[in-house]
Amino acid sequence: MIPRLAVASKNPDKVREIEEVLSSTGLASDIVRGLDWPDVEETGETLEENALLKGRAVTEATGLPALADDTGLEVDALGGRPGVRSSRFAGQEVSYAENVGLLLEKMAGVEDRTARFRTVVALVFPDGAEVTAEGIVEGSITAAPRGRNGFGYDPVFEVEGRTLAEMTLDEKSRLSHRARAIRALARAFGL
Ligand code: IMP
Repeated sequence: MIPRLAVASKNPDKVREIEEVLSSTGLASDIVRGLDWPDVEETGETLEENALLKGRAVTEATGLPALADDTGLEVDALGGRPGVRSSRFAGQEVSYAENVGLLLEKMAGVEDRTARFRTVVALVFPDGAEVTAEGIVEGSITAAPRGRNGFGYDPVFEVEGRTLAEMTLDEKSRLSHRARAIRALARAFGL
C-alpha cells in the first residue's frame, strides 16, 4: 500500500471519481489534498503519453507518488475521434457543453452511434518507477443530452439504456472506464 499519494488532476470532477474508486482498492492509505503544481500541457499523441506526462510532472513538483488519468471518447462513425483530443474537440479552453454540442452536430443523422470511453492511468513514483493500466466502457452516443450528474460527455454517452449523467457517482464507478483502469492498476499490485 502506498502511504501518501497525490492525484495528478486539477479537474474536481475527475478527482472525485478517482478518489471514490481508489478508496475501495486499498492501493493508497492517504490521498494528499491541497497540493499545487504548474499546469501540464497535454502534448502526447496517446492517452498513455499524456497520463505519464501529468504523473511525472506532479511527482516532480510534490515529491509524492502521483496517479494521473487521461481519457478519450472514441466514436466509431468519426474514425475514433475525438480520442486523445477529446478536451479540445471544439477548440482550446472550451466548455463541456461546447464539446458536446459539436459532437451531436457531427452525429446528426448518423446511424452507427457506437463509441467507447478509454482511460489510461499512470502511477509514477519519485524513484522513476512507472506503472500504467487501461480501462474501457463500450456504449453509444445519444441523440440529445440526458441527465444532470457526471461531467464532460456523460450526458450523451449511454450504457445499458442510461447515460452516465443519469447514474449516481456510485453507479458510474461500478462500470466506468476510469474505475476499470484504476482497478486494473490495483490488480497490477496484487490487490
Ligand atoms: P482529459 O482526460 O482531462 O484530457 O479529458 C478529456 C475530455 O474527455 C475532457 O473534455 C473531459 O471532460 C472528457 N472526459 C474525461 N473523462 C470523462 C468522463 O468520465 N465522462 C465524460 N467525459 C469525460
